[in-house]
Amino acid sequence: MAPMQGLAGHLFRAVYLSIFEGVDHSYCPFVRLRGGQFSTRDHQELVAGLSVGDGFTPQIIATSPSEARALCELLADYGHRRVNLNLGCPAPMETKRKKGAGLLPFPDEVEKLLETLCRFEPTLAVSVKTRLGLRLKGEFSDLVPVFNRFPLSAIIVHPRTAKQMYSGAVAWEYFGQQAKLLTMPVIANGDLRTLYDALNVLEAFPWIAGLMIGRGILRDPFLPAVIKELDLPSPRADTLRHFHDKLLETYERSGMSPGHILDKMRELWKHLAYNFEDAPKVARRFKKVRSLDGLQDLVNSLFLSPITSRPTKSPW
Ligand SMILES: Cc1cc2nc3c(=O)[nH]c(=O)nc-3n(C[C@H](O)[C@H](O)[C@H](O)COP(=O)(O)O)c2cc1C
Repeated sequence: MAPMQGLAGHLFRAVYLSIFEGVDHSYCPFVRLRGGQFSTRDHQELVAGLSVGDGFTPQIIATSPSEARALCELLADYGHRRVNLNLGCPAPMETKRKKGAGLLPFPDEVEKLLETLCRFEPTLAVSVKTRLGLRLKGEFSDLVPVFNRFPLSAIIVHPRTAKQMYSGAVAWEYFGQQAKLLTMPVIANGDLRTLYDALNVLEAFPWIAGLMIGRGILRDPFLPAVIKELDLPSPRADTLRHFHDKLLETYERSGMSPGHILDKMRELWKHLAYNFEDAPKVARRFKKVRSLDGLQDLVNSLFLSPITSRPTKSPW
């Protein structure tokens, strides 16, 4: 399961993983240092991640070796055994500070950062999550030899540039040429929304070690189980409903404000809407909801007529 800031925090992941099967490994949205410490939210993510054990990796975002070192020292103090470096965040607020994908045009700086991180081996197994470049996908070809110099446990590649943000063509062909040159296990990520998408990527690149899925899980929470050919619950609509109810209850019990819960649930339903007839209209209805009661009314009305058969072809 991909890290998704704001959407897939520890509460979401705990509820999701308690209901759906198929996910082997999850990542928290990136944590960072503020004044030398973690924010309360990041601290909660890291503590919650410990209870997941081996199936969880904390993700960090950093630009300088000293920042990376401080983050790794803290992760090791928490008892974590893995660290993932974010080289993919496309938000200008990060990239202009040479964080996330902002580092991709600077292979020498990526190298320094990885040198620092890999000094924490074997206490922390180091992995990377990257895009192809900040502005140009060709930036990746200079990064491949840098990545290959380090004993990375895995590299997750989202074959877009940061400039593309989250849409536009995924450069699978280029991924096929360049990521194949990487010497560590490669995980493919990007627009895997259906079984058809997943099988296409697995078939085209049989050398990859796995798939990472983000929005595809929000859209079809059964997708990892479908890919792994696991038995699915029936009817699926009951499980979806249970997921919604349990997530809402978990958010409410956590003390999150109603407005914040509403934002999160509306964002999730933007994706879950695709389980229902006339999905764009359903998504628009969620956008207009202004209260948690309104949200529940809409959810109640939807579960009277869910679609349970999934498209086999990607609509994207
Ligand atoms: C709302 C949102 C928040 C995200 N937050 C993170 C993050 O904290 N760290 C990260 O590496 N990627 C983050 N991503 C990127 C995803 O992990 C993933 O690489 C991207 O969405 C492409 O995969 P997908 O098409 O399966 O969603 C985020 C994506 C979204 C949509």
